Amino acid sequence: MFKVNEDYLKLPGSYLFSTIAKKVAAFSDANPEKELIRLGIGDVTQPLAPSIIEALHGAVDEMGNAETFHGYAPDLGYEFLRNAIVKGDYESRGADIAADEIFVSDGAKCDSGNIQEIFAKDNKIAVCDPVYPVYVDTNVMAGRTGTYDPKKETWSNVIYMPCTAENNFAPDFPDEVPDIIYLCFPNNPTGSTITKDQLQGWVDYANKNGCVIIYDAAYEAYISEDNVAHTIYECQGARTCAIELKSFSKNAGFTGVRLGYTVIPKDLKAGDVMLHSLWARRHGTKYNGAPYIVQRAGEAVYSEAGKAQLKEQVGYYMNNAKVIFEGLKNAGYTVSGGVNAPYIWLKTPDNMTSWEFFDFLLEKANVVGTPGSGFGPSGEGYFRLTAFGSYDNTVAAIERIKNI
Ligand code: MLT
Repeated sequence: MFKVNEDYLKLPGSYLFSTIAKKVAAFSDANPEKELIRLGIGDVTQPLAPSIIEALHGAVDEMGNAETFHGYAPDLGYEFLRNAIVKGDYESRGADIAADEIFVSDGAKCDSGNIQEIFAKDNKIAVCDPVYPVYVDTNVMAGRTGTYDPKKETWSNVIYMPCTAENNFAPDFPDEVPDIIYLCFPNNPTGSTITKDQLQGWVDYANKNGCVIIYDAAYEAYISEDNVAHTIYECQGARTCAIELKSFSKNAGFTGVRLGYTVIPKDLKAGDVMLHSLWARRHGTKYNGAPYIVQRAGEAVYSEAGKAQLKEQVGYYMNNAKVIFEGLKNAGYTVSGGVNAPYIWLKTPDNMTSWEFFDFLLEKANVVGTPGSGFGPSGEGYFRLTAFGSYDNTVAAIERIKNI
């Protein structure tokens, strides 16, 4: 008789955003006349920029011609895209990353979930609390997290680094030294970030203690302040301790197109073993690459026209962030985030739990958000709203919340 991977059975409930989608669908079925405004999952709403559409059309036409048709993509991704990434995301920031240290993929969610495969099972992970649930859940599936305490909502073999108003939503170095440290800045879900000096502190800590940092920079395009690093490789020494994950979802609206990349510098080693080689082996064996047409669309993100159009798109969402931040603040809510990230993190009013506030907002304002406790125990009493809605919906949602 076959057996299942019992580590999956340890996972409590379903994936956070699936749980929310089910709850919202049940509410909609029971109240078909209510028009919901969805500011829950961080899914973009603006159409793809014209230069991206043009690149997609051009690439589709190429695929219809024997002379320009493309089959399997190269293992690491097309050079035209990797070169554009190096120039646009690294050289421009004074960061030393080569094209053959970039692995193109279909998105940062998959990479952030899969990357743990190249590490031994007995590594101990540290995560910010609250945290993007994929980091923890995928380590649970791999059997790396110990046992679950349903009361505390924590795993015995995970180091939690609380990020709350008390520490300005910036993690402190943990008492126990971890092996693998997941960091995401600007942060999902809190919408806060750390300075470049603080990030340098993490790089120094990792190098000193033999840790690897898995750095999720999915929200980098939303950075508006000068003292924030756009890539961890702006920090001295990051090449020997950090893997960086990047997404095209939030900066270019690719949530439905799917494109991302992972950087593993060749200097990042465990003994003599380059992590780059292990990920290359995995990539080659388990993955067939993002489609040619999508990689051409990704290249257009770095064109002059693409950059200008996407700057405008990011500005559009950041204006929504301002509408949410100011609107809620004026209504008496305690809010943070929204300056370097498209997420606003608010304290739930009247000591409501995060899920109580979720239900309250859904029923009274027909607005969908994300309960902070879904991201970890230190998220309890907080709530996340995304700036990725349309401007009109964002304004309407805030009016509804104010009028409750
Ligand atoms: C979120 O809402 O946290 C994100 O959209 C999730 C993701 O990027 O996968």
